[in-house]
Amino acid sequence: MSLRKVASPRVVNIADLRSIAERRLPKVVFDYLDGGAEGEITLRENCRAFETITFRPRQAVALGKCDLRTTVLGTEISFPAMLAPVGYSRMMHPGGEVAAARAAGEAGTGYVLSTISGHKLENVKAACSGPVWFQLYLVGGRDVAETAIARARQAGFAALTITIDTPVAGLRERDPRNGMKQLLAGSLFAKLPFVPQVLARPGWLAGFLLDGGLPKLENIVVPGEGPMPLVDVTSALSRSAVCWDDLRWIRKSWTGPIVIKGVLTADDARRAVDEGAAAIVVSNHGGRQLDVQPRRPATGRRIRNHPSAAGNRRRCKRSNRDFARWRRPSGH
Ligand SMILES: Cc1cc2nc3c(=O)[nH]c(=O)nc-3n(C[C@H](O)[C@H](O)[C@H](O)COP(=O)(O)O)c2cc1C
Repeated sequence: MSLRKVASPRVVNIADLRSIAERRLPKVVFDYLDGGAEGEITLRENCRAFETITFRPRQAVALGKCDLRTTVLGTEISFPAMLAPVGYSRMMHPGGEVAAARAAGEAGTGYVLSTISGHKLENVKAACSGPVWFQLYLVGGRDVAETAIARARQAGFAALTITIDTPVAGLRERDPRNGMKQLLAGSLFAKLPFVPQVLARPGWLAGFLLDGGLPKLENIVVPGEGPMPLVDVTSALSRSAVCWDDLRWIRKSWTGPIVIKGVLTADDARRAVDEGAAAIVVSNHGGRQLDVQPRRPATGRRIRNHPSAAGNRRRCKRSNRDFARWRRPSGH
């Protein structure tokens, strides 16, 4: 992204955005966004691993216009990244998932909407001019998931992403320290020690209250009860592990492409493809669910180079060509 497009001189890179978020959000919300599971070893390793990647620049070439375009599941995007699903975005800002999806579209790329969303999936789809995928957790059970899948299909979502790395919600140690549970559902007395961090962020608090307070989860609609309250999610997540067998009924409800997110071994990559996945997302969930896991970039390379991936590499030849195109400056 060119510097000209950045509106404020205060925001030149992602680290600047992070400091603004830290100043604007109550600690409990910022730490939910910023933290990882347990000792945060995987979170730190992920960051370190990306820092060790180096360019191998070829010098003395006239640089034409850089072309970062590529395709994902057959749709062109302006650069090789999409916005990953982020639950509870409406807690961070009232615009939440709708605003993020709109920004993704304006940048020429796509957005993956989390199941744990405070905005209706139809509104998120309508806001984004790029491809939008729906990320599925089985929170609320099969009937609830089938209803959400039918809505996503009707609204025109381009793919279904199934996250397989969250059989239980991760133990993010910052959350209990900040009183996440008490603030979401505790008695007034239990909340009291944690309230000062919220009062210290009046800008965020005003937006939160004007937006109606804690958002409900608009895409987890429990029959006879309506959208699930946000507080129910942790226990519901622990009862909603996705297993390979579930793909069979999911495939009947969703005939479009399925993306399996949270793959960390070549065996699971192979299994995902054998079960009909159109793509996989190699991910350790940002180190937010299980700590001490394989590092992200190295794992991707290992899976790609594993002998069992050979057939898929052949099948992916066309997209590899597309991928190669964005790595070279056009005209060279
Ligand atoms: C605050 C937050 C909430 C997240 N919520 C979800 C979610 O609801 N579903 C999901 O599949 N992944 C969720 N993730 C994980 C991200 O989609 C992504 O996997 C993670 O940021 C690491 O990026 P990577 O997968 O590209 O390595 C969340 C991440 C963050 C930081």
